[in-house]
Amino acid sequence: MIFTVAIDGPAAAGKGTIARAIARELGFAHLDTGLLYRAVGLRELEGLDPVAAARELDPEGLEDPRLRQADVAQAASRVAAIPEVRAALLDFQKGFARRDGGAVLDGRDIGTVICPEAEAKLFVTASDEARAGRRFRELAAAGHDVSYEGTLAEVRARDARDSARDAAPLRAAGDAVVIDTSDLGIEEAVGAALAVVRERLGAR
Ligand code: CDP
Repeated sequence: MIFTVAIDGPAAAGKGTIARAIARELGFAHLDTGLLYRAVGLRELEGLDPVAAARELDPEGLEDPRLRQADVAQAASRVAAIPEVRAALLDFQKGFARRDGGAVLDGRDIGTVICPEAEAKLFVTASDEARAGRRFRELAAAGHDVSYEGTLAEVRARDARDSARDAAPLRAAGDAVVIDTSDLGIEEAVGAALAVVRERLGAR
């Protein structure tokens, strides 16, 4: 069975949590495409050429805990604006989206560029403050040295760069269902997303 769930949205909106829950619930494979760009960003911080790093990337080896760091997130958003970097990561993501058995991908351009034919498209968003608060608590709990103000500025800078770039800018696909998680708990957000996906599954 080919069935793609495309989940896009700005930084720390809850895409990953929703994507993992949908994949678990439906038995689909899940790909956090942000990790691909974070892995290239980390290589760039280490002094490598980002285009070469993207071409050499092993998408199966994305376990490095450093990928969660705030400086790596910023580097990811810088390298993600380079068209050659995006092109190098395209085939793997397209193949993953259409693999047999169903797939959930979360990122910025899944419903617009990677898989415009996705059977279910969600655009998950929340207020800047709600997103920064969640990311701050997540990073602090993992032992990172971060502040709420710094995290808010970081999230806003990344969104601005991701939205303004020419290559696959962050935007909702015309046929995406928008879910604003500002005032939703995890269960409510997951429930809203699952309802959309189940409806699309049933319609087939
Ligand atoms: O988890 P969070 O929402 O903070 O970020 P992420 O999904 O890990 O993505 C990190 C960065 O990678 C983003 O700020 C984007 O610049 C870039 N990215 C992208 O351009 N396209 C994607 N499909 C996924 C991420």
